[in-house]
Amino acid sequence: MSLLDSIKENAKRLNKRIVLPESGEERTLKAANSLLKEKICQVILIGQETAIYKEGEKHHLDHLSKARIVNPAEFDKMDAYVDSLVEIRKSKNLSRQEAYQLLKDPLYLAVMMIKSGDADGEVAGANNATGNVLRPAFQIVKTSAGISVVSGAFLMILKDHQFGDNGLVIFADCAVHPDPDAKQLAEIAICTAQTARNIGQLEPRVAMLSFSTKGSASHPLVDKVVEATELAKKMMPGLKIDGELQADAAIIESIGNKKAPGSSIAGRANVLVFPNLESGNIAYKLVQRMAGAQAIGPVLQGMAAPINDLSRGCSVDDIVNLVAITANQSTGN
Ligand code: ACO
Repeated sequence: MSLLDSIKENAKRLNKRIVLPESGEERTLKAANSLLKEKICQVILIGQETAIYKEGEKHHLDHLSKARIVNPAEFDKMDAYVDSLVEIRKSKNLSRQEAYQLLKDPLYLAVMMIKSGDADGEVAGANNATGNVLRPAFQIVKTSAGISVVSGAFLMILKDHQFGDNGLVIFADCAVHPDPDAKQLAEIAICTAQTARNIGQLEPRVAMLSFSTKGSASHPLVDKVVEATELAKKMMPGLKIDGELQADAAIIESIGNKKAPGSSIAGRANVLVFPNLESGNIAYKLVQRMAGAQAIGPVLQGMAAPINDLSRGCSVDDIVNLVAITANQSTGN
């Protein structure tokens, strides 16, 4: 069974409630129909029932009637949500009126549903920029215990099975935090190791990447990666992690042996942690395009609840896959 099939099968067993706030979007409705047809999860759509059903009829989406539809204009918990949001954002002096305005936005309402225990996870972004999807999540559900920064991992499924575990390698951060300091980079490493275990179904061997291997270059940027590696070891004793390593020393055994002799993971890494968002984002796109790898994600990690952001160029299958991943994350991973 492929990794994605196994993730979908597990989602079916979990039967989580996933909210899709972009119900005015054709691919989202098609994905909702498929999720309901295949019984991958329960689906909550935010929008107007008549508009959703009309669009569903147009595209022969026969399973949409099984979705729960929440119309912000008629939602009976709106007042309670306004109270909660004012409380959550009291340090920012958010007024009731401002909270009410925010909750008219399906992206805010979806996150408040999760915060209030009325949904287990959210997938959005087919029609909204990353920042608009992430901001409500950062403000309302915030980060998980012991983590201060959200990041985004990609499951890279490579054609060449010599890399990672049978061609599966996890890359991060490729999506969220532009310029992490050493502590934040250590947190990203820990979260990525957890994503590798819980979603990638592999035992992580983490390489902290740099342009230097074990002191071959000296620079403050190298020092940051060395410090992050030490902090990550303290945060998760027993984790197989090493750094600083160049990419070739991380993934090619003969080079790892030569440049980092005695390393527990050099040459055999299945998790690559990049020093900043520029390198992570560029690397995943190059590997995807030039090596023909399948890039699944970004899987957001470090958030207190599973919320994931789609690319606006996503396909219906991309939405279905990311919902299945989100359902898997909602087990407390
Ligand atoms: N983790 C946790 N919380 C965060 C993070 C983070 N990484 N970044 C910001 N926050 C919090 C802040 O603490 C703040 O909380 P508060 O309101 O309670 O004080 C809130 O989020 C808003 O913070 P801002 O600094 O105003 O953040 P802003 O909304 O301007 O930006 C964003 C956040 C949009 C995620 C920004 O970091 C960003 O644009 N990142 C790059 C995203 C991107 O373009 N990625 C590449 C494309 S994706 C792809 O290719 C797959």
